[in-house]
Amino acid sequence: MSIQTVPTTPFAGQRPGTSGLRKKVTEFQQPGYLENFVEAIFLTLGDPGEGEGRTIVVGGDGRYFNRDAIQTILRMAAAHGVARVLVGRGGILSTPAVSCTIRKHAAFGGIVLSASHNPGGPTGDFGIKYNIENGGPAPEKITDAMFAHTQALTSYRISDAGPVDLDQVGKTRIENMVVEIIDPVADYAELMARLFDFKAIEALFAGGFRMRFDAMHAVSGPYAKTILEGMLGAPAGTVVNCEPLEDFGGGHPDPNPVNAAELIAHMEGLDAPDFGAASDGDGDRNMIVGRGIAVTPSDSLAIIAANATVAPGYKGGIKGIARSMPTSQAADRVAAALGISCFETPTGWKYFGNLMDANLVTLCGEESYGTGSHHIREKDGLWAVLFWLNLLAVRGQSVEQVVRGHWARFGRNYYSRHDYEAVDAAAADAMMTALRERLPELAGQSFGHYRVALADDFVYTDPVDHSVATRQGIRIAMVDGSRIVLRLSGTGTEGATVRLYLERFEADPARHDIDTQVALSDLVAIAGNISGLRHHTGRESPTVIT
Ligand code: G6P
Ligand code: ZN
Repeated sequence: MSIQTVPTTPFAGQRPGTSGLRKKVTEFQQPGYLENFVEAIFLTLGDPGEGEGRTIVVGGDGRYFNRDAIQTILRMAAAHGVARVLVGRGGILSTPAVSCTIRKHAAFGGIVLSASHNPGGPTGDFGIKYNIENGGPAPEKITDAMFAHTQALTSYRISDAGPVDLDQVGKTRIENMVVEIIDPVADYAELMARLFDFKAIEALFAGGFRMRFDAMHAVSGPYAKTILEGMLGAPAGTVVNCEPLEDFGGGHPDPNPVNAAELIAHMEGLDAPDFGAASDGDGDRNMIVGRGIAVTPSDSLAIIAANATVAPGYKGGIKGIARSMPTSQAADRVAAALGISCFETPTGWKYFGNLMDANLVTLCGEESYGTGSHHIREKDGLWAVLFWLNLLAVRGQSVEQVVRGHWARFGRNYYSRHDYEAVDAAAADAMMTALRERLPELAGQSFGHYRVALADDFVYTDPVDHSVATRQGIRIAMVDGSRIVLRLSGTGTEGATVRLYLERFEADPARHDIDTQVALSDLVAIAGNISGLRHHTGRESPTVIT
């Protein structure tokens, strides 16, 4: 066993996006491609100090190339002075579990192999992201440094050791580094049991409450099975599609009503269970469904905030809430009622890290099916599901009753997102540029019964470290609080994805039953007119509506 220095040359385009470096598997399989990026990670981290004993956590969502990538990363970690690596058995660790494990073991950081909700398999996507010692995604100054290193590499360092058996819990060595294969679920399950009232949830299941958790053949299967069926006594078969598969069974592990159509159909059927939920590829997203009602992520955040104290981990109340800019303002109403702050951040969980570290917020959420709290520094799919179970157990109400009760008290923020996927990138850029130029003239203009109060390209100044993020999406806010938001996705791997977010507030409970798309149709038309979306993209209608 010895450490080799292998000559290399830079690859173009290794810039981490919203959530790490995401590319087609075939791109990652080019000789040196993964190695270069991993070398850039280690160069950015710098050499460990004398006697530092640096520990890192490594795991992934089990997608195709996960195991190969882990073997390479282990051999490179050994060449970069890492003392110990904790690896989930079978190479499995959900994104929230990585965050939890980093924090619990006071690790230096962690590497997550995942392209989240993007399809997997040999023709699908792969991804790699780095998390820092607070357990959260690396902030931009770190990912920028990684990118800079990728452009200047001339070599990488790697041990020539053979592969490690990832399937046996226990310790082995590569060079001077200890490789510890750990149970991927244990640390995480222990944390959940401290946050939620497991006795109450157990009693709920014992009383005949029925649930369907669709793990979409992705990473949350083993977690959900252990916790829901093992610890909480839910009947066997509650967790479906629970085996993580390298290609997610050919599915698209993105929990929204379009991709989780099977779950939605179950929840609308005659024999619908009381509660339905799903998670994504790496287990950080969640979808909450009741009988005949899918809860929008924005509403879910607001409902969790309004009811936080039902869960033991939050019984002292919450400090504040943060939501990404395109997320609806439903949470703002709860924050106002509770007399706490609500922060509006750019899209990307990494922007919540400082707010949580500074104890300014307890709960965070995004419209993109992400919800979480300061228990870790990632969004957490199963956490949200357990919160809802805790809430339903305490309240003794159905999902629909909880949601309607919330709207009756706070008003309803009708909300929808229209995605235009795989649009020509240049056309999408041209649309955004033209729109930016129009912004100054929009304020004060009327469109039908809407009048524009504010039109800008969202700029965020982090209240903790004062870093500034510009060009985070176009906001067109109406005088009545309705909003149109337009931005380009930072996670796609094919062309550009235009996201159009629409929101309208309705206080009157007598008007809480309008079909969402009907309620938002005027705003859709206005957005089309202002942005010239059709003209620029050549698209008549969105590819996905959620
Ligand atoms: C990932 C990030 C989220 C983000 C989402 C959508 O899941 O962790 O924070 O909201 O991607 O990002 P996009 O740029 O595609 O809208
Ligand atoms: Zn994810």
